[in-house]
Amino acid sequence: MGQDGGFGIGEIDTSRPHPARIYDYLLGGKDNYEVDRRAGDELAAAAPEVRIGLRANRAFLQRAVRYVVGSGVRQILDVGTGLPTSPNVHEIAHGPAPDVRVAYVDNDPIVAAHANALLSSSGATSVVLADVRDPQAVVNHPEVRRAIDFDRPVALLLVAVLHFLTDAEKPEQVVAALREALPAGSFLVLSHATGDFADRSAAQAVYSKATATLNLRSRDEIERFFDGFELVEPGLVQVPFWRPDAPPPPRSGEIGFYGGVARKTA
Ligand SMILES: C[S@@+](CC[C@H](N)C(=O)[O-])C[C@H]1O[C@@H](n2cnc3c(N)ncnc32)[C@H](O)[C@@H]1O
Repeated sequence: MGQDGGFGIGEIDTSRPHPARIYDYLLGGKDNYEVDRRAGDELAAAAPEVRIGLRANRAFLQRAVRYVVGSGVRQILDVGTGLPTSPNVHEIAHGPAPDVRVAYVDNDPIVAAHANALLSSSGATSVVLADVRDPQAVVNHPEVRRAIDFDRPVALLLVAVLHFLTDAEKPEQVVAALREALPAGSFLVLSHATGDFADRSAAQAVYSKATATLNLRSRDEIERFFDGFELVEPGLVQVPFWRPDAPPPPRSGEIGFYGGVARKTA
C-alpha cells in the first residue's frame, strides 16, 4: 500500500467494527464509521476507564519510542500501527533523531487509505499492508526492507496488537519469528490487554462482533513474548507505570494494559 497502491476506499468494510477504527474513535479521531462508534460506545459502557486506558497506552508508546531512540536505535518496525494518531511514531522519533527510519505495518486497508499522514517527506518511512500472523511476509516485504536493514538494531513495536490474535493463531510463535529476525542491540516494545485487574468479559463480547476478537492474557503469558530478551526497568507493568513522565491518570490501577520494553543482548 502507499507505494504499492491499489487499496482504494472502496475496499473498506463498514458492515463490521474494525479494531483500528474503534481505537481511532475512542481516541477522538475521525477515521471511523457508525458501526465502529457503536462498538466503541458499548466498550466504554463495558469498561468505563477504556478511554483513559487507550490514552495511557498511546502515552506508553511515545515514552517507549523516545527511550529506544535515546538508546541509539535508528530503525523502527511498527506492526499493528493503527490509523495515524498525532504524534505518529516517526514524528516522535524525529524530534531527537531526524535520521530514524520507520516501517509502518497493519493488516487493515483503512490504514493504507490514510497512509499519507504516515509518509514523511524525506522518504524515511514506508507503509505496508501485511498481517503479523505471517511474520515472514512482514520482514521480507520489499517496502519493509526499503526502510529497515535487519543487520542493524531495530525497535520492533507490537503495541496493542497481539491481543487480536487467538491462541490458535500461535502468537508466541509469531513473536519468536519476529524476535529471531532482529540483530543484537534491537528492542521489543510491546503492550497487551489483560483481564488481571477487572472482569473484561463484557468488553470481549463487543469484539466478538468485530473483525478480530479480544484475547486477554495474564502477566505471565505476556511476559513470555519477551523470551530471550532482557526487560529494561521497570519490567512489564501496567502502561501508566512504565517510566512515567507525568502523574498517572485517575483509575490507573484498573487499566487493563501491560507494557514493557526489552533488549536483545546476544
Ligand atoms: C488498538 S490498534 C493499536 C495501534 C497502535 N499500535 C497503538 O498502540 O497506538 C491495533 C491495530 O492492530 C491492527 N491489527 C490487528 N490484527 C492485526 C494483524 N493480524 N496484523 C497486523 N495488524 C493487525 C489493527 O488493524 C489496528 O490498527
